[in-house]
Amino acid sequence: METKIKFDRQASESYERRATRLLNGFYRRVAAEVAAAARPGATVLDVGTGPGRLPRALARLRPDLSVHGADLSPDMVELARRAGPDIGFEVADVAALPWADASLDVIVSTLSAHEWPGPEAAAAEFARVLRPGGRLMIYDFRFARLGPLTAALSRLEQVRRSALHPLSIYARLTAARTT
Ligand SMILES: C[S@@+](CC[C@H](N)C(=O)[O-])C[C@H]1O[C@@H](n2cnc3c(N)ncnc32)[C@H](O)[C@@H]1O
Repeated sequence: METKIKFDRQASESYERRATRLLNGFYRRVAAEVAAAARPGATVLDVGTGPGRLPRALARLRPDLSVHGADLSPDMVELARRAGPDIGFEVADVAALPWADASLDVIVSTLSAHEWPGPEAAAAEFARVLRPGGRLMIYDFRFARLGPLTAALSRLEQVRRSALHPLSIYARLTAARTT
């Protein structure tokens, strides 16, 4: 299924301005959860990374990690790269990730999953690129329609959906590749 790029240069720059003001606490919280889940030296990919705020928060918390970001929008990736070369950002669709089989320890994603047109293709890629023992951590709006993605994740194990905290507007969808 083809994905339309929604974030051109103007939309990307406007998103970055808003994200910077509104979402820093959210990124810090997610970065702390990913940092707690990642083994020393783990390779972590943020899918639909946008301007790359989460990977940068994570790299500050855990300098031992190899942190990467991927996004469908070349304009978002250009913005993400502006903050420095220490994190690798790639233009990529969640349905065709340019990572080798069993090469990632953690895949994280924030506020992007509701835009993916084909949950089956995304789930198949997660199952392919996660290492045995790897973790998937998807965060999105609580009201986002994540049912089809949750169902597609049945190819992984320990699939769970929860709220970030009882009154939170964000939901967390986690899964693991155990074998
Ligand atoms: C609302 S922004 C969220 C950006 C960032 N994760 C954050 O939390 O601020 C959604 C991002 O998902 C990206 N995206 C949408 N569909 C995608 C896909 N199929 N593959 C990769 N990225 C995608 C968009 O280009 C956009 O940058």
